[in-house]
Amino acid sequence: MSSQKPKKVLILGASSGIGREVARLFIDMGCTVSVAARRETPLQELKAIDPSRVEYSLVDVVAENAAAGLQELAERTGGIDIYIHAAGIGSQNRVLDLPIEEKTVRTNAVGFMRAMNWAYHYFVSQGGGHIVVISSIAGTKGLGPAPAYSATKAFQANYVEALEQLARQQGHPIRFTDIRPGFVDTPLLGEKPSYPMLMRVDDVAKSIVKAVMREDDVKVIDWRYRIMVALWRLLPRWIWKRMRI
Ligand SMILES: NC(=O)c1ccc[n+]([C@@H]2O[C@H](COP(=O)([O-])OP(=O)(O)OC[C@H]3O[C@@H](n4cnc5c(N)ncnc54)[C@H](OP(=O)(O)O)[C@@H]3O)[C@@H](O)[C@H]2O)c1
Repeated sequence: MSSQKPKKVLILGASSGIGREVARLFIDMGCTVSVAARRETPLQELKAIDPSRVEYSLVDVVAENAAAGLQELAERTGGIDIYIHAAGIGSQNRVLDLPIEEKTVRTNAVGFMRAMNWAYHYFVSQGGGHIVVISSIAGTKGLGPAPAYSATKAFQANYVEALEQLARQQGHPIRFTDIRPGFVDTPLLGEKPSYPMLMRVDDVAKSIVKAVMREDDVKVIDWRYRIMVALWRLLPRWIWKRMRI
């Protein structure tokens, strides 16, 4: 990694959890890092690490002006090489509360698509780049406890796959990396998460940075979840619908 030229990286969803840890690692690597989210204080803290190499902006991916915010931030550092989409929300919703489902779709599907649309056009006009999406293993199957979350994560994975094919068909040198972590100990899971095979956010961030630098197509984190999703895929629907997740 150290032999490569420091990259310019823009991360949306860098105020917390996975996005923040990934931002820290890229800052440590000497990259120019632009960070965005809705909360300012955690972004200011990242900028304070190295004000000369870190820029930030407040961007709400659900807002219609999100693309303009990302564009302005990218231009502030004289362009970017890598766009990382770590913005997202998720919660269990066994009672199928409609506002929760709608908010999840607005953020993880509509907002996500808006950011992808911006990043794709940005890298087309620049002549290349790298789009990284933190989707989830939750997109592998429909999950009863979190219908909108699992459906939007499947949407993200399919969307990235579609853009990858489109870029190739159109001859644009844009690379895509779909990161699919299992459970990670971040605020997304709540105060004291008690999930099986819970991973530390710093370990996950290191795996993500490695996958980004290697330009992996798809990276399931970690090996235990790779086995688990492979088994999930083998299960016929009549078994899946009886499973207690
Ligand atoms: N934790 C897990 O177990 C896990 C597993 C697999 C995949 N993931 C995925 O990883 C991504 C990051 O999640 P995390 O676990 O790091 O959660 P997190 O700590 O809650 O971080 C979520 C990030 O998304 C940002 N965000 C949320 N809504 C936004 C909006 N409307 N506009 C802009 N930014 C927004 C948040 O910033 P602001 O609130 O400041 O806007 C925050 O920076 C999510 O897509 C999640 O689905 C998480």
